[in-house]
Amino acid sequence: MSYFTEENATATVNGRMGPDTDPRLAEVMACLVKHLHAFAKECQLTQAEWEYGIGFLTRTGQICSGERQEFILLSDTLGMSMLVDAINNRRPKGATENTVFGPFHVDDAPIRAMGDNISLDGKGESCLFEGRVLDLDGNPVAGATVDVWSDNADGFYDVQQPGIQPKWNNRGRFITGPDGRYSFRGIRPVSYPIPDDGPVGQMLGHLGRHPYRPAHMHYLVTAPGMQKLVTHTFVGGDEYLTSDAVFGVKDTLVAPYERVEGGETIWRSPFDFVLVPA
Ligand code: BEZ
Ligand code: FE
Repeated sequence: MSYFTEENATATVNGRMGPDTDPRLAEVMACLVKHLHAFAKECQLTQAEWEYGIGFLTRTGQICSGERQEFILLSDTLGMSMLVDAINNRRPKGATENTVFGPFHVDDAPIRAMGDNISLDGKGESCLFEGRVLDLDGNPVAGATVDVWSDNADGFYDVQQPGIQPKWNNRGRFITGPDGRYSFRGIRPVSYPIPDDGPVGQMLGHLGRHPYRPAHMHYLVTAPGMQKLVTHTFVGGDEYLTSDAVFGVKDTLVAPYERVEGGETIWRSPFDFVLVPA
């Protein structure tokens, strides 16, 4: 037995785990301790810097509430959410890629008829979203639920502006028929800042990073026997595509937005979703 030293730190801490520790917990914690210690050693962390870090994490926790999850925002802005998502959703070529879920999804959005308008506040440039839900062989997937949500033309989700925006503004669920097709009307989304009035916003400021996300439409596509797809389609040409505050952009998720002449909507954005078996 030896006491804790700078040299034996990691082995000493990890050696304290009891024999009945859950094996996966033991693996994850041992790895976390190893990397935490390596971090402190590599950057020769000062006492003042560690105290600042503790203060930052304390403030991050203190601002959390039922409506606000600053730790997820921290994970998102450090690329951790996208990294864990990538590790857990490796998909074959041709399948639609996942991206970050974000904090603004609401369960049980109204189920709407194909072609319905989800934009209830009359703002923004109208856009027809349409396409198919397919399997890897190109067959239509019937009975898929296409759950969609976006910000309004002012860059806010309905849940950020209760009493200002109509409830369920720019949200809805659409269920595919035998042809796998979905279609709905909404607005061409706009880029917006993630909530930046807390510690994460301060961190971005100190790092010379802006808080903006490029314009996107969120999709959660589920179907019996298929892996859940959490994704967005991004508006091509958006100025923040290459500097998304949460690193959610992927090449394959940038969708066309075509100007429609003389149609019911100003824009049309076609996109097919390809699901992978569960
Ligand atoms: C969103 O796209 O809704 C979002 C994602 C991550 C952090 C904040 C917002
Ligand atoms: Fe979003």
